[in-house]
Amino acid sequence: MRTSPRASTPRRYLMCPPTYYRVTYSINPWMDPGKPVDLQLALAQWEELRDRYRALGHTVEVLAPRTDLPDMVFAANGATVVDGRVLGARFAHPERWAEAAAHREWFRAHGYEAVREPEHINEGEGDFAVTATWLLAGRGFRSSPLSHPEAQEFFGRPVIGLDLVDPRYYHLDTALCVLDDSTDAEVMYYPGAFSPGSRAVLERLFPDALIATEEDAAALGLNAVSDGKHVLLPQAAVGLFEPLRARGYEPIGMDLGELLKGGGSVKCCTQELR
Ligand code: ARG
Repeated sequence: MRTSPRASTPRRYLMCPPTYYRVTYSINPWMDPGKPVDLQLALAQWEELRDRYRALGHTVEVLAPRTDLPDMVFAANGATVVDGRVLGARFAHPERWAEAAAHREWFRAHGYEAVREPEHINEGEGDFAVTATWLLAGRGFRSSPLSHPEAQEFFGRPVIGLDLVDPRYYHLDTALCVLDDSTDAEVMYYPGAFSPGSRAVLERLFPDALIATEEDAAALGLNAVSDGKHVLLPQAAVGLFEPLRARGYEPIGMDLGELLKGGGSVKCCTQELR
């Protein structure tokens, strides 16, 4: 049991309301266009997440939704921002292509100068996770392996490529979460989502990681957001709460059940502006 208290640091997040959210196509195994989405409920769940961030003292910027982009609520995929530098996204599926420009425009309109339109496919923070000094980078389903050297060159941070092998965990942020980005040590992840070699890399880099069970991973429990102390995660991932508390974190369960029908949860809806 850890005794020194965890400290949260104020964050800035970019979110996009699910005003035009629907599941009319399927680009991941979670999406079933035959299953109806309750839009009012989706909005209420999203607002609860936004309000929770604000109540914790964080800033939430809001990106205007577009009628023709039903997945835009998953704002984490639109860019990766580190040290005020913005690596834009390039989506794998045509259904989401236009989201990338909407994000880049937002950044340009908000005074960001280093905004890169990427050459290679990358789905923003869906596949890039930031620790104190590294960029952990997923590949296999969405982001191209070529996006990894591109990100390394742009951010000047070492990129550690990780191979995703289970289609249910098609983005890195469905299988791994950085709990404390002031170190290179504190993550939680689900080993089953990674190739054997990548699993070995994770074991070497994070010998003390919180290892999630298959059950908690399947509740998208790793699609979580931490401010260094509070960890907002899907409330159905019940097995993660005690291990998080034992490490000094304060888990906060959120119900984003309607967004889960699109294959996303807390983290997918939240892009961090570092
Ligand atoms: N329907 C979206 C897609 O398949 C969900 C994206 C979830 N976002 C995430 N960061 N994992 O692209």
